[in-house]
Amino acid sequence: MVGLLPLTLTAATVRRRGKRLLGPLDLTLDQGGLTVIIGPNGSGKTTLLRVMHGIERLSSGTAQWSLPPAEARQQQAYVFQSPTMLRRSVLQNLRYPLDLLGHPRAEASARAADWADRIGLGQALDRPATRLSGGERQKLALARALIREPQVLFLDEPCANLDGRATRDIETLLLAVRATGTRIVMATHDMGQARRLADDGVFLRGGMVHDSNRAPSFFDAPKTPELASFLKGDIVE
Ligand SMILES: Nc1ncnc2c1ncn2[C@@H]1O[C@H](COP(=O)(O)OP(=O)(O)OP(=O)(O)O)[C@@H](O)[C@H]1O
Ligand SMILES: [Mg+2]
Repeated sequence: MVGLLPLTLTAATVRRRGKRLLGPLDLTLDQGGLTVIIGPNGSGKTTLLRVMHGIERLSSGTAQWSLPPAEARQQQAYVFQSPTMLRRSVLQNLRYPLDLLGHPRAEASARAADWADRIGLGQALDRPATRLSGGERQKLALARALIREPQVLFLDEPCANLDGRATRDIETLLLAVRATGTRIVMATHDMGQARRLADDGVFLRGGMVHDSNRAPSFFDAPKTPELASFLKGDIVE
């Protein structure tokens, strides 16, 4: 497979209605591992994820993959904070990305059933996805993103509002996926989760990268007092 990474952001800036939401920001996303993006509400986490995935227009600067944009996009997946489910069955939701890519029906069904097993919905293939619980839905959204075997996976708060068990199931899945070489970039407000999963961390503040480092130094020896405060749970503007 042709490599998609690194992704290089150069002076990437997003402005809307005269307000600067992000940047100018320089950031390189290298091969392998899981990057956690943290920061206060409104600090630009979602905007940064969207810029990386290419669904947020830059006002200036560039975001460049090692492949042309259209090819690069095909090899990435993005899971929104509140994923929308098709008003169809669990099985149909899972196989939908493969159907779009023109995979043979039997193969798409087999892979979808396999993913349903992996997320504990193997007995619920025919259940309408809109009737699933929040945790089940989030797992379904993740599986639907992963069924295409993307090289890079973006996640925006994948465990917001989930209980400990659903969170653990999702983290287990993410670790398994990372082990196969999938690059993961995840925004989270859950500092426990950030520590459990991160290979490296990025701390955003006011649309800028305020601090970043490899784990565990990112958490144990923050370079800035603001990150130290944020990790302690203090209010950081
Ligand atoms: N289309 C838009 N037009 C104007 N402002 C926007 C737009 N999208 C986002 N913003 C603003 O940009 C800033 C960054 O938003 P963003 O959603 O990236 O933050 P975040 O770190 O993901 O926050 P949260 O933790 O609440 O999810 C916020 O002040 C937000 O109100
Ligand atoms: Mg957000």
